[in-house]
Parts: sequence; structure tokens; C-alpha cells
Amino acid sequence: MKKAILFISLGMMALASQSFKQANSSSLSNGKNVYETYCMSCHMDNGAGVSGAFPSLAKTGNLADKNRLVKIILQGVRGPINVKGTKYDGEMASISLSDKETADVINYIRNSWGNKAPMITVAEVAAAKKAVVKGYQAY
Ligand code: HEC
Repeated sequence: MKKAILFISLGMMALASQSFKQANSSSLSNGKNVYETYCMSCHMDNGAGVSGAFPSLAKTGNLADKNRLVKIILQGVRGPINVKGTKYDGEMASISLSDKETADVINYIRNSWGNKAPMITVAEVAAAKKAVVKGYQAY
């Protein structure tokens, strides 16, 4: 009896981890679509951007702060930034995305082109948006 319970709970854990993995890979594939629709025209399909005009998103070390990424998508970003030694002083307009699209595209850019970071959930995006409204400062 004890063994049966053990097997059942192990089975449930395996299923849970399986659906977790599926949720992750569907977020990444949705994120790729969002990226291709809303971001790729400037940041390019390999995330490398156009030096001096559109910053690279690949292995720059600038994508660690997920709240900042939510803010960039929600409110745009302007003014001087330094990306791997190249200076940018341009402007990116805000992009109107749902919380889910925002989470998916952040997951995609943070896990593509050699980038690796934990997945962000839709709930975390919603919380970050609230922080932005309260006057969250990215810089
Ligand atoms: C019309 C061109 C354009 C589009 C489309 C665009 N961006 Fe940008 N992005 C820029 C520019 C220009 C900057 C730099 C702004 C500055 O100089 O302050 C930037 C900056 C960024 C940064 C900050 C990079 C860093 O190293 O700090 C991130 C992150 C970013 N964009 C993500 C995105 C995402 C995600 C999308 C799609 C949802 C997107 N961008 C769409 C032009 C664009």
C-alpha cells in the first residue's frame, strides 16, 4: 500500500514537471512570435541589433533586471545607455503587449542567442507593471 502511494505520488510529480516543461517551451515559442512581430525589425533576428542604432540583446548582461524589461516594453526607453561599450542615446517607443505576451517575449530574449535566465511568470509581469505605475525607476 505504501509503495502504491509512493508510485502514485512519483507519477504525479513526473506529470507536474512535464507540464511545467511544456509551459516553458510554449512560453518560449509564443515569445519568439511576439519578438518577430514587435522587436525583430530593430533588434534583428539574431538579437544582435545594429551597432550604434539598435542595441544588441545577446549576452550584454543588461537583461538581468526583469522589472526593468517590463518597464522598457510598457513605457519605452530613451536617453544614454551603454551596451557592451557601445553608447546609445536613442529612443524606443513603448510597445502595447498583454501581460502574457510581455512574459513570453521576456522569456524568449532572456533565453536566446546564448542568454540564460529564469523564466518570468504572467503574475510577475502584472506585479512589475504595478511597480512601474507607482513610479518604478529603471535607472
Ligand atoms: C523601432 C525600433 C525598436 C523596436 C521595434 C524595439 N526596440 Fe528595443 N530598443 C530600440 C532602441 C533605439 C533602444 C535604445 C534606446 C536608448 O538609446 O535609450 C532599445 C533598447 C532596448 C532594450 C535595452 C537594452 C539594454 O541593453 O539596456 C531592450 C531590453 C529592448 N530594447 C527590448 C525590446 C523588445 C523586447 C522589443 C519588442 C517587444 C523591442 N525592444 C522593440 C529600438 C527598438
